[in-house]
Amino acid sequence: MDKLIITGGSCLSGEIKISGSKNSGLPILAATLLADGPMHVCNLPHLNDITTMLALLRCMGVGVTIDEKMCVEVDPSSITEYEAPYELVKTMRASILVLGPMLARYGKADVSFPGGCAIGSRPVDIHLRGLEAMGADIEVDGGYIRARAPKGLKGAHFLMDKVTVGGTENLVMAAALAEGKTILENAAREPEVVDLCECLVAMGAQIEGIGTDKLEIQGVKSLKGCTYDVMPDRIEIGTYLVAAATTRGSVKLRGARADILESVLLKLEEAGAHLSVGDDFISLDMKGNRPKAVDLRTAPYPAFPTDMQAQFTAMNAVAEGSGRVVETVFENRLIQVHELNRMGANIALEGNTAIVTGVEQLKGAPVMATDLRASASLVIAGMVATGETVVDRIYHIDRGYECIEEKLQMLGADIRRVPG
Ligand code: EPZ
Repeated sequence: MDKLIITGGSCLSGEIKISGSKNSGLPILAATLLADGPMHVCNLPHLNDITTMLALLRCMGVGVTIDEKMCVEVDPSSITEYEAPYELVKTMRASILVLGPMLARYGKADVSFPGGCAIGSRPVDIHLRGLEAMGADIEVDGGYIRARAPKGLKGAHFLMDKVTVGGTENLVMAAALAEGKTILENAAREPEVVDLCECLVAMGAQIEGIGTDKLEIQGVKSLKGCTYDVMPDRIEIGTYLVAAATTRGSVKLRGARADILESVLLKLEEAGAHLSVGDDFISLDMKGNRPKAVDLRTAPYPAFPTDMQAQFTAMNAVAEGSGRVVETVFENRLIQVHELNRMGANIALEGNTAIVTGVEQLKGAPVMATDLRASASLVIAGMVATGETVVDRIYHIDRGYECIEEKLQMLGADIRRVPG
């Protein structure tokens, strides 16, 4: 297994380009199954999760062609299999996103039941109840969700009792081809859901309320292929901004959008960052100052994203003062705290709350994490620690950060990958 070796002490500075969004690329690739003709999905990040989704489409017989810029042509007309097998689902839970489109377009889908993962139990009950409300017959058999709707899905009025990003995405894709109108209440408003809805509209779907918690979808008979550019990755943007703030640096991120991460930018300003924002960039300058610790509480968009919690916890670990970090979305997403404490951080855990008292200096250590964002937080910590930090199990990082070591090297970090 590859490892990242980081020698701390560099203050990040310079300019990099932000990649396309993983969490918007994945549902958009699943949505290609709804189209009658070929789709072109562009600005995809070159990441393991995207490759897994393409492998999943391929194993169903879907035609997939990739050009050198990660613009992918997907032609679902050659589909022969209606199954998402265990081997792929176990490596990527987001495979569940093919359930709604397959059922809506082909009337059947067998998807391996995704289990829990390091950050929580992550049930999919709301996805299934929503599809049942639209008339699907669903049974779980041999570890598979077997869903059938031979006469097609019917529009329904469905209230999601918890805000779920993947659940909203699966149901909106299913509703796009259902007969009649579907109303989804308490829908997720995450920018990735908006990006998916905009792609569906470009394919001919009729959706009202995009970006609100009430989506009204008038089903149409068919959807056409189109060309769609996925939005920039707001979590990648946030991660590099926090990395710069933690190292007291100054960076400019090209291809970044400020309107999709306002809660994160507010917290960075509270930490003492000077931000400047343009149509196509975000710059951050700490003017050499140590960050100030911030309190935060994760919650669905537009509140503070759970996917940025670990990185802010790492920043707080070396900040002035102390910050209270409350994780409300996933039950086990403060696991990085133990590794940070091994590097000399002073973090106390009380249930879903981490009380982080900033220390003057972290010390490099061998560390590993069991989740993507937790791994990113260890890389950030390694950049401000004395000596060498070796981050193990970086396949987690490769799921979500395109060329992370190259981008950090361009910003002046001393980081290299060694094969394990
Ligand atoms: C998406 O996961 C993201 N993944 C996650 O990104 C992100 O952390 C999460 O949304 C929250 O923003 C992708 O987009 C591929 P949820 P998802 O359904 O859709 C509970 C990353 O690091 N729930 O919004 O799986 C669930 O257990 C990742 O890139 C149910 O109870 O998340 C959780 O507590 C990891 N029943 C909460 O809702 C359901 O049927 C939110 O989960 C569905 C979810």
